[in-house]
Amino acid sequence: MLEVDSVSAGYGALTILRDVSLKVGDGEAVALVGANGAGKTTLVRTVCGLLRARGGHIVKNGTDITTTPAHDLARHGLAVVLENRRLFGELSVRENLVLAETVGRRARGGQMRFTWDEVTALFPVVKERLDSAVELLSGGQQQMVAIARALLLQPDLLIMDEPSTGLAPKVVKDILLVIKALRERGMGLLLIEQNVGIASEITDRGYVMALGSIVHEIGVGEWQSFLKDERLVKAYLG
Ligand SMILES: Nc1ncnc2c1ncn2[C@@H]1O[C@H](COP(=O)(O)OP(=O)(O)OP(=O)(O)O)[C@@H](O)[C@H]1O
Ligand SMILES: [Mg+2]
Repeated sequence: MLEVDSVSAGYGALTILRDVSLKVGDGEAVALVGANGAGKTTLVRTVCGLLRARGGHIVKNGTDITTTPAHDLARHGLAVVLENRRLFGELSVRENLVLAETVGRRARGGQMRFTWDEVTALFPVVKERLDSAVELLSGGQQQMVAIARALLLQPDLLIMDEPSTGLAPKVVKDILLVIKALRERGMGLLLIEQNVGIASEITDRGYVMALGSIVHEIGVGEWQSFLKDERLVKAYLG
C-alpha cells in the first residue's frame, strides 16, 4: 500500500503541489490524470525521492519513505518508469538490465517476483536487442527496456509516468498488454496518463489533478460515467 498524505512540494520559490493525498492499495491499479502542467510529474518525482517533500508524508507498506532517496526505493518495493526513461544510453540493453537485476536482488533478496527470463519473455523485442546500445533503439523499444528494468527491481508497486506518450499506436497496444499481464500477477500500479481512455481501460479508479491539487476522485466503477461527463472532462483535462 502506498499512501501519499497531504504532500506539498515545489521548485525554488515556486509551490507546485498543495496538500496532495492519494492511496494505492496492494495490487490495485490507480490512475492520476490531469492537464499539461497540472503537477503529475512533480508528484512522481516527490514520491520517488527525486524532489524533497516540503510537507506531508509518503508511506509505503507502513514505512515512512518521505525522505528516502531515489536509489533506496527498491528496498521498499517501489519502482518507477519516469517520463524521460533515464536509461544509460551508451550501455547495452543487457547492461542496463543487469544493473537493475543486481540492485533488485540486493534490495529484495527474499522476495524476488520476476526472473530475468520472465521479464525478457514479456518483451520479445527487448530480448532480440540485448546487445544493442540503448540509444540505438526506437522510442517504443526504449520504453520497453525502461519497464523491463523497473520490473527487475522486483517492485510490488510500479509507478509509470505517461508510458504511452509519443509512441506509435501499435507500440502502445503492446505496452498496454504487458501492463495488463502485470496486473494479473498482482502488481500494484500508479499510472500517470493524459489519455483518459487508456487510464480507464487499465485502472480500477483514478484521481484528477489540477493546479497541483487533487480536484476529483473517480471511484471503482465510475470511469465510464466520468468519461461521459463532458463538462467535467473538459474542465479538468482541457
Ligand atoms: N524543474 C522545474 N523548475 C521549475 N518549475 C518546474 C520544474 N519542473 C516543472 N515545473 C513546473 O511545475 C508545474 C508542474 O509541472 P509537471 O511537470 O509536474 O506537470 P505534469 O502534470 O507532469 O505535466 P505534463 O502532462 O506536461 O507532463 C509546471 O508549471 C511546470 O512548469
Ligand atoms: Mg508530466
